[in-house]
Amino acid sequence: MELIDGKKFVDKNSFFIEIYGLGYVGFPLAVRLSSSEFKIIGIDVNNERIERLKNNNLMDSELYLKDEFLESRNKNFLELDNKSTKNNISKIGIICVPTPIPTEKITSDIYVKSAVIEFLKTANPGDVIILESSIEVGTTEKIETIIEENGFEVGKNIGLCFCPERIDPANKEWGIENIPRVIYCSDDASYSIAKIIYENVNKGNLLRVSSPKIAEIVKSFENAFRLVNIALVNELAILCDNLEVNVKEVIDAAATKPFGFMPHYPGAGAGGHCIPKDPRFLLESAKKLDLKFNTIEHALEINHFMPKYVSNSIKKEVENLGLGKNILICGLSYKANVEDMRDSPSFKIIEEFHNQGYSVYGYDPYFDEKLSQKYMIENHLEKLHFEIIKKLDDEFLEKISGICIVQHHDIIKEKIKEIYEKSTVPLIYDCQSKLLKNKNSKTKLVYLGN
Ligand SMILES: NC(=O)c1ccc[n+]([C@@H]2O[C@H](COP(=O)([O-])OP(=O)(O)OC[C@H]3O[C@@H](n4cnc5c(N)ncnc54)[C@H](O)[C@@H]3O)[C@@H](O)[C@H]2O)c1
Repeated sequence: MELIDGKKFVDKNSFFIEIYGLGYVGFPLAVRLSSSEFKIIGIDVNNERIERLKNNNLMDSELYLKDEFLESRNKNFLELDNKSTKNNISKIGIICVPTPIPTEKITSDIYVKSAVIEFLKTANPGDVIILESSIEVGTTEKIETIIEENGFEVGKNIGLCFCPERIDPANKEWGIENIPRVIYCSDDASYSIAKIIYENVNKGNLLRVSSPKIAEIVKSFENAFRLVNIALVNELAILCDNLEVNVKEVIDAAATKPFGFMPHYPGAGAGGHCIPKDPRFLLESAKKLDLKFNTIEHALEINHFMPKYVSNSIKKEVENLGLGKNILICGLSYKANVEDMRDSPSFKIIEEFHNQGYSVYGYDPYFDEKLSQKYMIENHLEKLHFEIIKKLDDEFLEKISGICIVQHHDIIKEKIKEIYEKSTVPLIYDCQSKLLKNKNSKTKLVYLGN
């Protein structure tokens, strides 16, 4: 059997890269590597996604990559397919598929396993697999077993690496090109191959760790750190509401401490495919060992409670002001300036209001009807119990009691300010305290955290 030989990966014509999963992680990676003139095959089991990309039809969040994407497609550096390719030259498989929260029905590694099996169907000795998905502790070792069951020897004639992605969509300062990465590699040759690849991603800024478990724990711990701090600041916001003290002023003052403090700001709860999910992987590991991880467990509870707290606070205001039971939830995505609505707190707030007999409307400039099925699955909903509004026009706004702003997207900032200044609605509840108070407005503006 052929040994892994890093040298043959130096010549970009002597190998190709298959990227499995062309979502928020895999698509930018495919564009970046194909722009660096690596031969890339982007593989996704979602045929609609493949067809959409073949028709050069990009989602809002992908548009910033349009020029590079089109250039790579035109120069044939980026091909798109729904399965792996048989070829006699060497290949590298980079796995960027989803890793759901484990339930009785599915394990978190279900898609990672199927992507690896698909890769192995056409693999040759000397190939390398790099996992980028966020995985539960122990997954890399399970993947190693699958590879060996398919007749390869990890670290001898096939390489296995885990290099967790850290991308933060819409972050203008830290992107795929400058975020340092942690990597585990089964052997030195695989590490030198990974260096060649990541040289073209983040200038090869890699920290090699000694075991797969370390890399797995690092990824989940980073997101646990964020979740716990978000929960801490959200509980502080609830306390400040009751003490009638502005939480933002407290945090900004605390942030003047030059060491040992990192400001986090309150909101309706952490959403998306990472922060509320990855810490659960550490919790699962602890449970398997009969241990507790109380900090994470409590942070998850607080995160779960926040949408209820927000809707209850708004309901109290609605009753005090004697308003009707209709509400607009504005900014449905899990963070500002992205269209990703997975596990978004907005959907939970909508459900709370719906269960209380409210007429609920939703508005988000990024809402995409075609993706609503995906949002429902990710938000564990059978049906969306709200009416989606396409435009924030006065005629509609005049008939509603209040707006709950969950996310402040830059592109609607001016419109929200105008609605407030023109006093178009009686009540605005701002989960992020971003709309500045104005004495001339007749609208009651309430912040989460007073
Ligand atoms: N979105 C983020 O900001 C982010 C950041 C860091 C890490 N991650 C992690 O990266 C992984 C991918 O996340 P994402 O947000 O890109 O997910 P996504 O849902 O946007 O994209 C995943 C894609 O994989 C495809 N897919 C599923 N099974 C497949 C298979 N067997 N073969 C080929 N394609 C398959 C899906 O059709 C989908 O298009 C997850 O583990 C996630 O936790 C995500």
